[in-house]
Amino acid sequence: MALPTEEQITEKLTAVIDPELRRNIVELGMVRSIEIKPEGQVDVTVSLTTPGCPIRSHFQDAVVSQVSSLEGVTGVGVGFDVLSDKEKGDLQQMLGRNKLPQGALAQVQNVICVSSGKGGVGKSTMTANLAAALQAEGHKAGALDCDVYGYSIPRMLGVDEKPDVNGERKIIPPESASGVKTMSIGYFVEGNSAVVWRGPMLHKAIQQFLEDVAWEELDYLLLDLPPGTGDVAMTLAQLLPQAKIVIVTTPQPAAQSVARRSAEMADKVDLEVMGVIENMSGFTTPTGETFSIFGEGGGKLLADELGVPLLGTIPLSEELREHADEGRPLVIEEPDSPAGKAIIDTARRIIASTPRELPMLQAEVPAAPEPPKMGKNARELPVLQ
Ligand SMILES: Nc1ncnc2c1ncn2[C@@H]1O[C@H](COP(=O)(O)OP(=O)(O)O)[C@@H](O)[C@H]1O
Ligand SMILES: [Mg+2]
Repeated sequence: MALPTEEQITEKLTAVIDPELRRNIVELGMVRSIEIKPEGQVDVTVSLTTPGCPIRSHFQDAVVSQVSSLEGVTGVGVGFDVLSDKEKGDLQQMLGRNKLPQGALAQVQNVICVSSGKGGVGKSTMTANLAAALQAEGHKAGALDCDVYGYSIPRMLGVDEKPDVNGERKIIPPESASGVKTMSIGYFVEGNSAVVWRGPMLHKAIQQFLEDVAWEELDYLLLDLPPGTGDVAMTLAQLLPQAKIVIVTTPQPAAQSVARRSAEMADKVDLEVMGVIENMSGFTTPTGETFSIFGEGGGKLLADELGVPLLGTIPLSEELREHADEGRPLVIEEPDSPAGKAIIDTARRIIASTPRELPMLQAEVPAAPEPPKMGKNARELPVLQ
């Protein structure tokens, strides 16, 4: 049977779309090589902008499905390498600046900003525990303290070492005992001294935390935002347009109007609200009596109003506070406690609502004919460095 030509294969590969850049891999110059073997085996090497594996499996499936639909193809191998800095630069120029994930964050799959209308609702407690829970669920997590006025992530995750700098002059984020990579302005100030920030300094500090920290591969980077509206959200939206927001609120219906401010802020800067977490919901006594100390239902009301899911309802819990004070997240210390369970459930809901492949993919990749059985000729090429 006649073998397909390189042109025919290239033509097929124009149906393989990069989900982040939303263009096909041929146009993006990401097809590194096409090799056609006499027996009909076709090996394609795709150059990625990041070595992140979720995207890799998307490309793998799409390339196999496209190429194998050609006459004469008996097997398809897909290999990967990573674009050089020069190639990334060229690509960036072609796409217009700032379209590519920048610097150190290129390998971070999901950025989630934890925000609240006012302080003291448990935003930092949620950030620290959710990061630890995501990590415990087998996802690599990081926590970045953007609340430069009230940093608390190092304390809550029990990290007291100072960050080092690696050979590439990137800051290495210290890891908590639970494996969460952390970064905070707290690492750079003496004792408990307050930092007086002016707008541009703040912008620069956050930018550095995103770009000059060696986060490397992370499934989730959680950002503990300062309460209310403001500068930080604006900066983040500019630097990370794909970031999503989770709003923490307390259950009294009156807290809604305050919490709504974070939603309005998200809307203003065009970031998607992923859901609401109600914290400090009812208190259950050891005898099983429940008191709604801070009222009831505020989280659900806000979620309904915003048309987003209620991701979790976390009860008041003395242990949650105590373990946070000791630097040992409740979700690790007492995962079966009511608050521990509620936070782990919330983390699972976050995992479920952050699909690894973007949904727009399906719409943009034309339906491919059923691939013929690849049999033992199908193989994955080793990853080239
Ligand atoms: N569900 C909860 N039950 C009991 N205490 C909590 C709960 N959530 C938070 N706290 C405590 O409330 C205080 C404020 O929480 P924090 O996370 O620092 O809020 P924020 O970051 O929003 O200012 C802390 O002392 C924390 O331990
Ligand atoms: Mg805080």
